[in-house]
Amino acid sequence: MNEKILNDIAVAMVAKGKGLLAADESTGTIKKRFDKIGVENTEGNRQAYRDMLFTTPGFEQHTSGVILFEETLFQKSLAGPSFAELLSSKGVIPGIKVDKGAQPLAGGGLEETITEGLDGLRERLAKYHAAGARFAKWRAVITINDEAPSDYALHVNAHALARYAVLCQEAGIVPIVEPEVLMDGDNSIEVCEEVTDVVLDSVFGELNAQNVLLEGMILKPNMVVPGIQCTEQASVQEVAEATLRVLKRRVPIAVPGIAFLSGGQSDVLATAHLDAMNRIGGFTWGLTFSYGRALQAAALKAWGGSNVEAGKTAHLHRARMNGLAAQGQWDKSLEKAA
Ligand code: 13P
Repeated sequence: MNEKILNDIAVAMVAKGKGLLAADESTGTIKKRFDKIGVENTEGNRQAYRDMLFTTPGFEQHTSGVILFEETLFQKSLAGPSFAELLSSKGVIPGIKVDKGAQPLAGGGLEETITEGLDGLRERLAKYHAAGARFAKWRAVITINDEAPSDYALHVNAHALARYAVLCQEAGIVPIVEPEVLMDGDNSIEVCEEVTDVVLDSVFGELNAQNVLLEGMILKPNMVVPGIQCTEQASVQEVAEATLRVLKRRVPIAVPGIAFLSGGQSDVLATAHLDAMNRIGGFTWGLTFSYGRALQAAALKAWGGSNVEAGKTAHLHRARMNGLAAQGQWDKSLEKAA
């Protein structure tokens, strides 16, 4: 394992004012997004959509890396070079989602899941590295309900995250470790804080037990928010403070960076939360975005299957807003000017 190479990549992924574009929707997930705009889910349309995103002029000023789905890593851009080559030529690091999705957890009974994809992962990582990927993503999903999360689900998901992470590092690939506490319940922000706290405790316990190099990884957590169905919503400041409280307790300073998922927050709210945390400060990690929906929703709608220029304009705007938020320099008035 080359520790310096891993650390250099991880540091570059959270470079000042930059974050990650999560464009790694599986073929099934992108179908749901395309259905909403009436676009057929063909390989050609997926290629055209991602080409629009990755050829947006200037997005590289705010984007350190892009998480790709396997199909995209091995696909050509419309101009000819592979997407990995196109991104690398702009100084944007190609990454790859390597998990095979969250499946029902056997023997659990609480509607919890375990993320699959460890079988054959060493061989797949070698192929992905050869194709240009320098970081990877694995998403574990943690559900909150009256009885969940169970210790069982916490343990097996943390264990799998650590197994994935150490295999990535062996292959010269920086692992994004993503334990996502879902925000779709009716729980309060306090419950989300408590659950996020035990999740991160369990994840870092396993990462340490399995010799994961903390200096060569990125954490991708949820923010601490009330469930969408909770009657009492929280202010931007409350979310920022609660999220930082947990992270400061649980994330060692050896970790170069934290890049949040958006998890179903509206795009402007996801930007506002990130900005508020960077204004509060008091931490050493790079604190940035790794958004999927919050970076793409407006671009997808504006593109609508054919309007390439409008899609690029909307994409660049959100990338720029989040780049500012990653430095605590975003302002709501910049949204109106768009
Ligand atoms: P969202 O920002 O849409 O939650 O997606 C980020 C991601 O990569 C989830 O794994």
